[in-house]
Amino acid sequence: MAAVITGLGGWLPPTVVTNDDLCGTLDTSDEWIRTRTGIQERRMVTGGLSTRDIAVEAGARALKSAGESRTDAVVVATTSADRLCPAVAPEVSHLLGLDTVAAFDLTSACSGFLYGLATSAGLIASGVAGSVLFIGAEAFTTLVNPADRNTAPIFGDGGGAVVLRAGQPDEMGAIGPFDLGSDGAKADLLAIPAGGSRQRAACGLGTDTVPTADWYLHMSGRPLYTQAVERMTASSRIALARAGWQVGDVAWFVGHQANARIVAAVAEELELPGERVAVNIDKVGNTLSASIPLLLTEYAARGDLRPGDRVLLAAFGAGLSWGATTLVWPKIVADSFR
Ligand code: COA
Repeated sequence: MAAVITGLGGWLPPTVVTNDDLCGTLDTSDEWIRTRTGIQERRMVTGGLSTRDIAVEAGARALKSAGESRTDAVVVATTSADRLCPAVAPEVSHLLGLDTVAAFDLTSACSGFLYGLATSAGLIASGVAGSVLFIGAEAFTTLVNPADRNTAPIFGDGGGAVVLRAGQPDEMGAIGPFDLGSDGAKADLLAIPAGGSRQRAACGLGTDTVPTADWYLHMSGRPLYTQAVERMTASSRIALARAGWQVGDVAWFVGHQANARIVAAVAEELELPGERVAVNIDKVGNTLSASIPLLLTEYAARGDLRPGDRVLLAAFGAGLSWGATTLVWPKIVADSFR
C-alpha cells in the first residue's frame, strides 16, 4: 500500500517584513541579505497569530484541494508549537472540525516535511489510517532573536499541507522510497539552548537563571552550509537510486529553502539545470517544515508543476537531520497563497 497525495495548500501570515524593514533594527543591508541568502522578504506572525492558526489555515486549504471534509489522522510537523505541552495537532484537528481523530506533532526542524511525510505514509502503509492530513506549520520567528543579525533575516513564518490517502505505488502522486538520516554529534550547530528539560528558567523563584540569548536560536552558519549541501546531495542520490530514477528523469528539484545558494549548490552537485530547480525563498525565507509544501503549492497553483512531472524532494535541518524522496506529480487543484 502506498500513500498518494490528493490535495495540497499553503498559507502565509499577512505581515510582510522586507530586508529594508530589518535594517531599522539590525546592522545589516538589503544587499547583504539578498546576495548571501536570496531572501528579499518574509512573513511574520503578529497580532496573536500562532502556529496553530497557521496550521488550521493551511490544513483547510489542503482539505478543500482534496475535496475532503474527513481524514483519519492529523500529523503536524513543527519546531515552533504554541506550547511545550500539549502538541498542537489535536487542537488543529478540533478547529478543522475533524472530531476526535488521531493527532500528534513531530519535531524535525527543517527536515520536518520529509520526516512527517514518511511518518504519514507509514500510518497508511501499516493500515493505521486510510487517509492523513499532514501539515508543516511554523511561527519560528518567535524563537529567533530579533537583535541577532546572523539569524533574524533568515527565517519566516507559514504553513503548507498535503492530504494523503491509501493507493497503489504506481499511481501518480504515490510517495516513493525515502532516504532519512541524522547526525546528533552536530546537534549544537543549530539549537535553542533554553526552555526544555536541560535548561529551564527558575520560573516562580524570583530569579531567571537563563541568559536571554539562550531562549533564542543559536546558529553556526558556515558548517551548517557545508553539511546542508553534502547531506541533501547524498540523500537525493540515494532516493533517486531507490526509485530507479536517473537525475535526467527529474522534472523538478524541490529542495528545502534554507538559502538560495545551498539549493543552487545541491543542484550543481546533482548536475540539475537551474530551470528544473524550484525556488521561492526570495518571498518567504526559511519556513522550516512549511518550506517544501509551500513551494509545491506555489508551483502547482502556477501550473509549473504538471501531472506526470517527476519530482525530487530533499531537506536538511537541525538535529542534524535530512531526507529525500520522489513522486510523480498527480492531477491536483491548488490555490495560490500569495
Ligand atoms: N548582515 C551583514 N553582515 C552579516 C550578517 C548580516 N545579516 N550576518 C552575518 N554577517 C557578517 C558576519 O558577521 C561575517 O563578518 P566577519 O567576516 O567580519 O566575521 C560575515 O558577514 C560573513 O559571515 P558568514 O557567516 O561567514 O557568512 P556566510 O556567507 O556563511 O552566510 C549564512 C551566512 C548564515 C547565510 C550561511 O552561512 C548559511 O546560509 N548557512 C546555513 C544556514 C542554514 O541553513 N540554517 C538553517 C538550517 S536548515
